[in-house]
Amino acid sequence: MAATQNNGNMKEALFKVPDIKFTKLFINGEFVDSVSGKKFETIDPRTGEVFAKVAEGDKEDVDLAVKAAREAFDHGPWPRFPGCERRRLMMKFADLIEENAEELAALDAIDGGKLYGMGKALDIPAAAGTLRYYAGAADKIHGETLKMSRSIQGYTLREPVGVAGMIIPWNFPTSMFFTKVSPALAAGCTIVVKPAEQTPLSALFYAHLAKKAGIPDGVLNVITGFGPTAGAAIASHIDIDKVSFTGSTEVGKLVMKAAADSNLKQVTLELGGKNPLIIFDDADIEMATGLAVFGSLYNKGEVCVASSRIFVQEGIYDEFAKKLVEKVKMTVVGDPFDPSTHQGPQVDKNQYEKILSYIEHGKREGATLLTGGKPCGEKGYYIEPTIFSDVKDSMLIAKDEIFGPVISLLKFKTIEEAIQRANATKYGLAAGIVTKDLNTANTVSRSIRAGVVWINCYLAFDYDIPYGGYKMSGFGRDSGMEALDQYLQTKCVVTPLYDSPWL
Ligand code: NAI
Ligand code: MG
Repeated sequence: MAATQNNGNMKEALFKVPDIKFTKLFINGEFVDSVSGKKFETIDPRTGEVFAKVAEGDKEDVDLAVKAAREAFDHGPWPRFPGCERRRLMMKFADLIEENAEELAALDAIDGGKLYGMGKALDIPAAAGTLRYYAGAADKIHGETLKMSRSIQGYTLREPVGVAGMIIPWNFPTSMFFTKVSPALAAGCTIVVKPAEQTPLSALFYAHLAKKAGIPDGVLNVITGFGPTAGAAIASHIDIDKVSFTGSTEVGKLVMKAAADSNLKQVTLELGGKNPLIIFDDADIEMATGLAVFGSLYNKGEVCVASSRIFVQEGIYDEFAKKLVEKVKMTVVGDPFDPSTHQGPQVDKNQYEKILSYIEHGKREGATLLTGGKPCGEKGYYIEPTIFSDVKDSMLIAKDEIFGPVISLLKFKTIEEAIQRANATKYGLAAGIVTKDLNTANTVSRSIRAGVVWINCYLAFDYDIPYGGYKMSGFGRDSGMEALDQYLQTKCVVTPLYDSPWL
């Protein structure tokens, strides 16, 4: 076996999985059953067993949530508050998140197989941090005074775009929720969110905390349910002014089409990636292998910006591959509640089977399997971290987003070749460069068509760093002040001056 597996029975010893408190839809400040009364099962990826049933929202429920959000936007206090009041309530919301960090991290761990310790130390505090970042902006949203060429003057108002719909994925249930909700709240929008059907629980807990913080009813609504029903109803809703989606390119196209066919609502899409990490001969091998492991295996490879194509220059290729195998073999696969675990189970059976089928493709296509390549454990959705070398650009594993713990190594000779091959993909989300040469770093970073380029680091995110796609990885930016712009629109107000012919 490529990696060690711990016994998976640590949960009782280390952490008691909390009782699931919130399983209903959250509409207009209340937890309610779905109109149909239907529920869906949410599965523990450690075992494949059902552990909770959650209300299954559909079009009728989205209608009710949009009605509440519309009312809260058109007549409620939220968009009319002075920015400092929105800031105050968002800060309170952030404090409540931190107070509940353990329970929230446990929900994402049991729902999505995410590491509990990582959630508690990183995802949950960063959610509070994201809220605070945008809270700080809520009272600094202002336009410009315009100097006109004729006897008129003007100014711009930055107004909230209206009711924002958000469709989020399962790989970062907490981070994705706050990456989208926080700038929208700061802007004064009201919101209908649909978390992924695989990971609905933390979003419902966040709705509860929003209410506790004093965010007015109708401002933040959460509809749990499936994509083709609840998700599609958001994308096509005539009373939603903007939709922000993160997920597959395939569904991104459907969302954009639905937005166009309904009311031309504004669209932000953050879609997949097949991100190159380019390692040059002069790289520090210790650092480069470390970045490759982190970039490819973090969150079990279920990361849109994962370094899923690793280009290594020929001079260090063999040494790099050898060291990488040594490092990857130290990965501990196991129960996400166990602090010694590095890699938990894949999110669900679909994703697990999809990853295993790509691994089989890789073997059939003639890539060399250096380590891993099999499921592990007696139950649940665990997969050995896997490395393929001698990968060719034409192989499926080099072209498709696998979204799992699978590393592909590709050999290159020259800087020009690396740039050309790195760009030879329909995606353009992220890229990494490892080199000590400033010229190489500058040339490559400016030549790669991707929304974020990391030099001698990888997955280096911060609240202030906007990210999003070039090409078929989507458009619009999450994070940073650019994300706030996604929830604002500009109104221009013009008045005549004293000597104007208009008077
Ligand atoms: P998906 O794109 O189907 O799901 C993402 C979200 O979209 C979920 O909330 C889902 O309920 C919703 N959705 C699905 N169909 C919809 C529709 N017709 N209208 C509106 N909303 C809809 O992604 P899925 O099937 O869970 O994963 C498939 C692949 O997509 C993954 O293997 C991965 O390659 C990619 N993916 C990329 C993500 C990213 O961060 N960019 C996140 C999740 C998946
Ligand atoms: Mg899907």
